[in-house]
Formats: sequence, structure tokens, C-alpha cells
Amino acid sequence: MKDFDDAPSFDDFDEIEYPRPEENDFDAIVENAISRRGFMNVMAMGTATFVTGAAGFGKPASAAGRFGFEQVAATTADTVTVPTGFSAHSVVNWGDPLWSNAPEFDWSVRGTPEQQAMAFGDNNDGMTVFTIDGRTVLVINQEYVNRDIANAHRESKLPETDDDVLKGMLAHGVTVVELTQNEGKWTPVKDSPYNRRITPQTEMKIEGPAAGSDLVKTSADPNGTLTRGTWNNCANGETPWGTYLACEENFNGYYSSSDPDIEISGEKKRYGIGVKDWGYGWAQIEDRFDIAKEPNESNRNGYVVEIDPSDPYSTPIKRTALGRFKHENAEVVINGDGRVVVYMGDDERGEFVYRFVSDESYAVGGDTSQLLNKGTLYAAKFYENGRGKWMALTPETTQMSAAEIAVNTRMAGSKVRATTMDRPEWVTSHPNRAEIYVALTNNKNRGIKPNAGGDATPVGGANPREGNKYGQIVRWTPDRGDHTAEGFEWNIFVLAGNPAVHSDNRAGSGNVNAGNMFNSPDGIAFDNNGILWIQTDGNYGNKEDFEGQGNNQMLAADPDTGEIRRFLVGPLACEVTGLSFSPDRRTMFVGIQHPGEKGYDSHWPGGGDTVPRSGVVAVTRDDGAVIG
Ligand code: FEO
Ligand code: CA
Ligand code: CA
Repeated sequence: MKDFDDAPSFDDFDEIEYPRPEENDFDAIVENAISRRGFMNVMAMGTATFVTGAAGFGKPASAAGRFGFEQVAATTADTVTVPTGFSAHSVVNWGDPLWSNAPEFDWSVRGTPEQQAMAFGDNNDGMTVFTIDGRTVLVINQEYVNRDIANAHRESKLPETDDDVLKGMLAHGVTVVELTQNEGKWTPVKDSPYNRRITPQTEMKIEGPAAGSDLVKTSADPNGTLTRGTWNNCANGETPWGTYLACEENFNGYYSSSDPDIEISGEKKRYGIGVKDWGYGWAQIEDRFDIAKEPNESNRNGYVVEIDPSDPYSTPIKRTALGRFKHENAEVVINGDGRVVVYMGDDERGEFVYRFVSDESYAVGGDTSQLLNKGTLYAAKFYENGRGKWMALTPETTQMSAAEIAVNTRMAGSKVRATTMDRPEWVTSHPNRAEIYVALTNNKNRGIKPNAGGDATPVGGANPREGNKYGQIVRWTPDRGDHTAEGFEWNIFVLAGNPAVHSDNRAGSGNVNAGNMFNSPDGIAFDNNGILWIQTDGNYGNKEDFEGQGNNQMLAADPDTGEIRRFLVGPLACEVTGLSFSPDRRTMFVGIQHPGEKGYDSHWPGGGDTVPRSGVVAVTRDDGAVIG
């Protein structure tokens, strides 16, 4: 990478302290990363000894872990597989009615708009379980719709009528649903006062630097402060003041143009907005999704949306200060000085990792309404020498206005030459120390082609493999343990791979073996015990480069030893995504998304000839002990 040549004085200091490696090959990069002085300081808190493994990388020296379960084998079974001594049961699935007066779902037509509006949506993703007035309330994203499954009764396998389109639209958004546990089993509480469906039609406020700017004004909202709906909510976040953060990811795929010859702006191209949508057909029923008619509507999505689950009548707020990109999750950390720091990834090949730092400090019981409106956004540089630096996105550094930075955040990141990453997915913070992890899921373009903004994607540093098929998890420690610090030290926690098929860098790092291998880490989250849970959204073909890896899965990792152990395997063609715990920590809620996609013959969870349905499972220990 050439970043280092342009670095200012901060990095001149680094150059002296941490000389740039002469070699640039894979082994040298990971060896350099793993042996960094700062990293060893972190490791000294644990008991690990890293030795050079087959890929020149850290291998756990000890087989003794602190997981409390025996690893499950990879499998292609159409079920949820958990270790001996654990059980899993379905809690809620696509189409389950949330109110007693809701019509039962008609599976022959995959539901109607009226049924879907009062039922659990499709493709659940990130989630948080809250305790509100002593009740257990699940808030969960409904990311998107499996078009071919939701429209299986249509020859095109796509929405055809306006009702088909509306039914699909209403399967998106966020669901709030109270849960209760009877005889060990969790079920939804129909008619709970907390139950709520938030959809692409729910009124929402726009706040932060983009609010009121010309960039977000539309014919329906000439003031640029009030919008409708959230969709493609991927992962999530939660704040210490009890709100939920729904993160809008592939919002672009819902826009199309009635004018096939429309000129697409550079800004729209950077976000993947063009003449065709991804098969949802929303412009068929609402003009705002037609970019020829409403060019600014697409500037009103791609944000983090704050939702107060304690008030079912509250208006969700789009927090534009956190930037507009294909948000994965939003990991909220309260810094030592009380400022709110939010770590975020932009899940696209060659896009960036971001950090927001609030101007004001959080105080328990204080006013939190402006904390996520006022602050500074940063994009990350990862240098090859194991150092990193946060680049502020300001009018001075980007020659863009505050509103432009909030709306066209990717372009601001390019202006400061942030490091193009291998699709940043979830970011998560260690519960007991200043240490942040990011899942970089895969990137077939690494070293092959630039990102959509023309930024190069050189092989090296935190993205060390060309055409990266398997992904990696990178972690960093902020300088002085201060989440607002400019600098940090990073290293690679795990390079996923397949050591049964490959012996080069595609075998993965030393903590990957034929027994625990996986590809495409996506959801990552810590439990209270400091175990890092890894969920995958990867290739489930179980052949060639992925032979022996089975269906998508969830693994547990010990950040101190590097040990990784497979805990759960999902059903056929699913993605495992979303993780939260019951208030007593005796239940782990895990999300299963899109079983049976792409024509795979899944009938999870109903079995027989039932329609495959995304849903949430509750995992418990048979001895009733605390699970995380
Ligand atoms: Fe919705 Fe990046 O996963
Ligand atoms: Ca994801
Ligand atoms: Ca993913």
C-alpha cells in the first residue's frame, strides 16, 4: 500500500517507532501483525503463546478452552445442530401473527398485504432483547424478502401484481415483539402493548447534518426532515439509554428508473443505484422509488435508525451524523470521558470502516436526544506495519459540506484515502477492555479491481489475500485505551480458510483446522464472558474450495488463546445472523435467515413439504445453566 508515503507527521513518528517491513509477502505481513509489541501487550492479559503455524500465523498452543461445549461437526443437514447438552427450539418465524385479530398466513400465496402487515417479517437479521418494565421484548430487523420464495406461486417467481409488491414491502423493516417463556419454551406474546411492525411506510424523522439540506428534500417532504420507512436493515446496535439501532444496508436495490436512458450521477453510481432494482418492484406502487421522478429519495436511506422500543408510538429517527453507506451494524461504546463512540462497517467490496465520536458526553438519566446528532465521523486507515489511524471526515479534510459528508459518506472516505477493506460486516467491542473486532467477510475483487469510487484495492495489511474467498477478522486496540484516540494498533485475529483443500494462504491462519473451518465471517458479538461469537454468511455448497465446511454456522472464539470451536450449524442454504441473550443469560437467541434460498430444498423449520421460513431459535443448556 502506498498510504504510508503520504502520511503526515503522526505517521513519521510511526515510521521511526515501527519500521515499515521490507518484505511484502503474505507471511511477512501476518508475522508482522501478530508479533507487534502492542499486540503482545494485549495478549499478555491472557495466557496465550502463539507459534508459527502452517500459514505463518498464530496457532493456539493450548487445547484447553473455556467454552463449555464439545464442537459440533460440519453438516449439510436441514436442521439447527447444537452441541450435546444443548437444545434449540423455534421462537418466531416469518408469517407468525403478532396480534390475535391478525389473519392467519395463507401459505399457498405466501400471505397477503393484510396478513403480512400484522405478522413477523421475512429474513430476520440483527436483534436485541430488551427488558422493559420487567418484560422481555425482542427487537429485530427484517432485512429483505426472498423473492423466489415469497412469490413461488407466480411463474416469474417475482412480485407481479401491486398486492405482491406491497406484501413484500410490508415484510421488510423492524419487528418489536414481547416474548414469554413457558416450560422452557419461548413464544411471542400476541397483543402485547409493545408489539409493533415498523415498515417502509412508517413515518420517520431525519436528524443530524443532512436534515433540512437540499440533498434530502423531495416533493413529499420539501423541508427534508420527515421521511417514510426503513428497509434492508441488516445488523443492529443498542444504546445504553435503551434504544435500538437498525442499520440500513442494501437500500439501493429498491430503486429503479422509468426512464431507461436516465443519466446516473457519480454519487448514485457509488451507491449502486441505477435503472433496475433487484426485483422488488417498489416503483410499481410508489413513485418515490423511481429515480426519474424523485431523484433525492435515495438520499434518505442508508442510515442508522434509532428506535425506542419502550414507546410503540415513538417516531424512529434517522441519525445522519453516522453517515450514509451500506451499514452493517453499529457498535456503541461509551468512552472513558463519557463520549459516545460508534464503530461501523460499510459492507461493500473495497469500502471502509468508520467511527463516530459524539461531541457531548452521555450521562445516565440525562438528555440523549442529541448525542447521535452532533459529533465527528472518521474513516480508518490500516497501515501495513500494524498501526492504524482515524481520518476525520470534515469540511476541511474533504472539501465537502457537513450535509454532503453525511449523505455521500463514501466519497468523503475516498477523499481522505481511507483503507479499502474486504467488505466490513459487524464490528464488536470486547466487554472488558478496549479492543475492537471487525469481520471482513470476503472480497473477490481484492487486488483485482478497484471499488466503485475508483480507489485501489491493493493486497496487503489487513486485507492480505488476493481475490479473498474466505474472509478474516481483524482487531485493534485504540491508543491508551481511548476510543477517541487518533491512532490504534491492529492485527489479524483469524484468517478463515480451508486447510483440507489448500496449503497456501487459502488454508487460513493457524487457529483454523479441518475440524473448525468456516468461510465468510459476518455477525460477530461478544457475550458477557468475553467469548467472541462468529456467525457466517458464506458459501454453503460444501464442495471445491468449501468442501467440508457444510452449511453456514456459528462458532465461539477465545480472544486470549485464539482457539475457535464450532457451536451451531444452521439449516440448508441459510445464513446464521443475529445474536442476543435473555435477561437471565440462560437463553441465547440466534437468527436463521433465508433457509432454502436459491432453490435449495429446505423445509426448515416446519419439515415435511412446508415453506422454508426465516426465524429465531432459542438455544439453552439442558442443565439450565447460564450460557453467555
Ligand atoms: Fe446484510 Fe452485510 O449483511
Ligand atoms: Ca450481515
Ligand atoms: Ca454477509
